[in-house]
Amino acid sequence: MKMLITGANGQLGSEVVRQATAMGYDLLAVDLPEYDITIPETVNRLIADYRPYLVLNAAAYTQVDLAESQEKPAWAVNADAALNLALACSAKDIPLIHISTDFVFDGKKTTPYRESDPVAPLSVYGKSKAAGDDHIRGNLDHHVIVRTSWLYGVQGNNFVKTMIRLASERETLNVVADQFGCPTAAADLADALLTISRSIFSSPDVRWGTYHYCGQGVVSWHQFAQAIIDISKKYRALKVTRVNPIPTSDYPTPAIRPAYSAMNCEKITKEFGVHPVPWKKSLEKTIQEIMAVP
Ligand SMILES: NC(=O)c1ccc[n+]([C@@H]2O[C@H](COP(=O)([O-])OP(=O)(O)OC[C@H]3O[C@@H](n4cnc5c(N)ncnc54)[C@H](OP(=O)(O)O)[C@@H]3O)[C@@H](O)[C@H]2O)c1
Repeated sequence: MKMLITGANGQLGSEVVRQATAMGYDLLAVDLPEYDITIPETVNRLIADYRPYLVLNAAAYTQVDLAESQEKPAWAVNADAALNLALACSAKDIPLIHISTDFVFDGKKTTPYRESDPVAPLSVYGKSKAAGDDHIRGNLDHHVIVRTSWLYGVQGNNFVKTMIRLASERETLNVVADQFGCPTAAADLADALLTISRSIFSSPDVRWGTYHYCGQGVVSWHQFAQAIIDISKKYRALKVTRVNPIPTSDYPTPAIRPAYSAMNCEKITKEFGVHPVPWKKSLEKTIQEIMAVP
């Protein structure tokens, strides 16, 4: 199974590489600085030289707050590079799996978002990701776009690792309690994406399009933080004694985030047999791995 993966060093990309390597995929894993996918020639050359059966794009500009003041690089990676990949794949008739985000929604719903719900991104990051998704839909029929949310893993920077660090430095933490979503372990998402890749390898009758995949269960950032601390305390002593719930208005950030971004994952389960994992179960597993890193 010959697969090209871009953004291979990121928290999701590194997990896909780890699992795909263990499964014996023929893999070309690329990332910055050698392979900048905002450059069309780089993408065209990669695909022409390697001739993958499938491309998986895990590259993105993911610094949500910085994107508000750094619009150009955010749009270059999230929108222009997605277009480069779509055009290059289309020219060689190669399918593309691409990752998108819950931040394409405005968070005004009170029930989990479905794939067919209208997008209305609130931030530069969300707008640039939505534009990238549109480029792929408009230029490549054979695509699977998987929207995910609140991603964390062993590699890279994420909310889980930040909470563990802050909890070992401070006695009190203040965490937003009025934004709700579904935490997703990079390992679970990588597993789901590789299941989809095997469907694409084994059958031409894939139902191409947009899907949702996230952890099972909806929590606030405050509930998520409390769980991270409770689990982490089993492994190491932490300084923190209180995690205070605060409103978003007490923690202003440059980017506006959706207040509610839970996603309905029935479609991906029905089409690919991929099941969301209960968020706490995956959190336990990931924290165990994080704690094992010296
Ligand atoms: N993180 C989340 O909470 C979250 C939530 C929902 C959806 N998502 C989506 O999930 C996917 C994976 O996210 P992630 O958290 O794994 O991201 P990540 O850790 O930031 O990894 C992204 C990778 O892409 C690379 N990259 C950036 N610009 C590139 C370019 N021009 N050419 C080639 N590679 C480039 C980055 O390299 P550098 O590090 O050197 O820049 C990094 O290795 C993304 O599509 C993201 O939008 C993430």
